[in-house]
Amino acid sequence: MKKYYHAYNERYKKIHQEGLLWFSNKPTPEVINWVDYHHISLGENLCEIGCGEGRDALFLAKKGFNITAVDIAEEAIRKCRVLSAVKGLKIAWVVSDALQLCEKLSNNYNWIYSVGTLHMLIKDEDRRGFLNSVYSLLKPGGKFLLVNMGDGESERSTDLSTAFELQERGHMGTGRKFEVAGTSYRAVNWDNHIKELTDAGFVIDKMFNTENREYSKCMTVYLNKEEK
Ligand SMILES: C[S@@+](CC[C@H](N)C(=O)[O-])C[C@H]1O[C@@H](n2cnc3c(N)ncnc32)[C@H](O)[C@@H]1O
Repeated sequence: MKKYYHAYNERYKKIHQEGLLWFSNKPTPEVINWVDYHHISLGENLCEIGCGEGRDALFLAKKGFNITAVDIAEEAIRKCRVLSAVKGLKIAWVVSDALQLCEKLSNNYNWIYSVGTLHMLIKDEDRRGFLNSVYSLLKPGGKFLLVNMGDGESERSTDLSTAFELQERGHMGTGRKFEVAGTSYRAVNWDNHIKELTDAGFVIDKMFNTENREYSKCMTVYLNKEEK
């Protein structure tokens, strides 16, 4: 079992046992802006990679989009199923490793988005695996939104030998402190981000620094897969 899977799964379990969510229930502004930018019609099929507790998937499904949402953490998807049932929303929740999406998902998509997931991958080979996997899942002419933490200038990476140890973390919603498993994080600068994205075959439409409540400074990129 991959350590980053285990760490997030354990963190979700602990927080859910307390009757809380780790993330907020508010959607990501960058996702809303991307949907608006492309004038994506209600009823279109969108796929989210690394949905966590489903705040963006639930919001978009409520608006009227057809959502498939993937996360590697079983506890995240269990919680998402409960939340969508309570709200009476039909969403295809899938437990899958983002590096092997085509093994679990039988359809290809015109619209894929991912918030805060690539930045968890430390090794170049895993980041390449993530980007290649999304590229394969995207239809020719399809669009991909990528939002990850970083300011585009500084680079840093957590030490994988200690990244997943238990640590005290503040819960954003309540301010309470919890001892939860640490997770991994890698920030890349714009030059290296552009290189990894174009090496994977994507065409960059737009890229900008953004800031949101959940992650603070982010690097946001609108990507295209060229028509064959
Ligand atoms: C920082 S959280 C973001 C969750 C959600 N997108 C949000 O912003 O609320 C990263 C999520 O990516 C998931 N994740 C990490 N590695 C993954 C992988 N290889 N495949 C699928 N999901 C992964 C984690 O389980 C976690 O739920």
